[in-house]
Amino acid sequence: METVAVLIVGAGPSGLAISACLTLHSIPFIILEREDCYASLWKKRTYDRLSLHLAKEFCHLPFAKHPRTAKTYISKDAFLRYIDDYVSHFKINPRYHRSVESAELDKVQGKWRIEAHNTIDEKMEVYFANFLVVASGENSEGYIPDIPGLDGFQGEIVHSSHYKSGLKYQNKDVLVVGCGNSGMEIAYDLSNYHARTSIVVRSPFHVLTKGMVHLGMSLLKWFSVDTVDKVTLLLARFIYGNLSKYGIHQPKLGPFFQKILTGRSPVIDVGTVKKIKSGEIKVLPEISRINGNNVVFDDSKEIKFDAIVFATGYKSTVTRWLKDYKYIMNEDGMPKESFPSHWKGENGLHCAGFSRRGLSGITTDAMAIADDINKVYTSKK
Ligand SMILES: Cc1cc2nc3c(=O)[nH]c(=O)nc-3n(C[C@H](O)[C@H](O)[C@H](O)COP(=O)(O)OP(=O)(O)OC[C@H]3O[C@@H](n4cnc5c(N)ncnc54)[C@H](O)[C@@H]3O)c2cc1C
Ligand SMILES: *[C@@H]1O[C@H](CO)[C@@H](O)[C@H](O)[C@H]1NC(C)=O
Repeated sequence: METVAVLIVGAGPSGLAISACLTLHSIPFIILEREDCYASLWKKRTYDRLSLHLAKEFCHLPFAKHPRTAKTYISKDAFLRYIDDYVSHFKINPRYHRSVESAELDKVQGKWRIEAHNTIDEKMEVYFANFLVVASGENSEGYIPDIPGLDGFQGEIVHSSHYKSGLKYQNKDVLVVGCGNSGMEIAYDLSNYHARTSIVVRSPFHVLTKGMVHLGMSLLKWFSVDTVDKVTLLLARFIYGNLSKYGIHQPKLGPFFQKILTGRSPVIDVGTVKKIKSGEIKVLPEISRINGNNVVFDDSKEIKFDAIVFATGYKSTVTRWLKDYKYIMNEDGMPKESFPSHWKGENGLHCAGFSRRGLSGITTDAMAIADDINKVYTSKK
């Protein structure tokens, strides 16, 4: 049994950012991480050709802006080197192979009681903490929708978090489900490796270039969301035309307004649209069921596939281990309160990295949480 001021669950960018902030306030903490490394999502659960979707000024952690010499869009490898430097600069030492399996408020002691499964020696470890920071991620587990007949599919089924590259799908018929950033980029990658690629498009979405998103995010500092949306849509119309005839429909809300209101990001095109226009990548309607090796679509067409890649998103798994989740989260493991007060719960409970605002949201959360903890911590000393 061990007692500490702050216990952090998860050593992803959020957990590391909080650690750096607490270190500067000289507040002791422990990080528990279920994997054998920090930033495990980036190291183990991302495809090879991934680079940061957003420009570098929106993708740094607290106290560590990217240098002027860094590329505007940082590659995955360069981002991981940046994280390595961050961890060694702040001397962060997560405890690995610790999967947190329960956390609840011990009302007698007024502390959080956390149980972690040590996956090396198979023992349960117990920790007590005054403050608990949930940093286990919005993307804790891949989500695959329930489709009738999926169990009987004889080909390969893979979630985007386990997809690496199109190399092994050469000359195969592959269906990508989901048309967010991951789905659209994976379809592009598959097609580059000469897989016969199709993508299911279910709902309307915005397609923008990296440059348009960068420009829009920069303009938001000076102009209203409405104005920025109008400018961006005009540019998108000029570059892409009306994509309706290819099966890609535009939502009613503008791209930035939609992001703020629903958390849904516009798709940043890496070249997929060109391949859709040329017919190299086929757009298909929603799946109604699966029949052996065949996928049956809403328009009753039935097509045989060798593999299906589900780029259907992720879910938070907080409610499985955080017994008193109602102090901060809803049933879906996402914050009860909306931005910007989402990070603060009751009884010393906080969450970092749950605002659907990527790395810049993580930086804001980490600074706010560390300041909040610092106020209570120093007043009690
Ligand atoms: C494919 C992809 C691309 C992205 N690209 C960008 C981008 O370009 N720019 C941007 O700003 N954002 C991007 N994001 C958003 C991304 O969510 C963040 O960048 C970041 O990785 C989130 O950090 P996190 O620490 O909150 O969560 P994670 O990185 O998921 O880290 C959470 C950690 O907690 C651990 N954990 C979970 N449950 C437990 C438990 N019970 N016990 C112990 N440990 C646990 C996990 O193993 C993991 O290491 C991208 C996300 C994905 C999936
Ligand atoms: C795009 O074209 C379709 C018809 O093909 C039309 O219904 C739709 O309104 C057009 N969208 C825009 C934004 O002009």
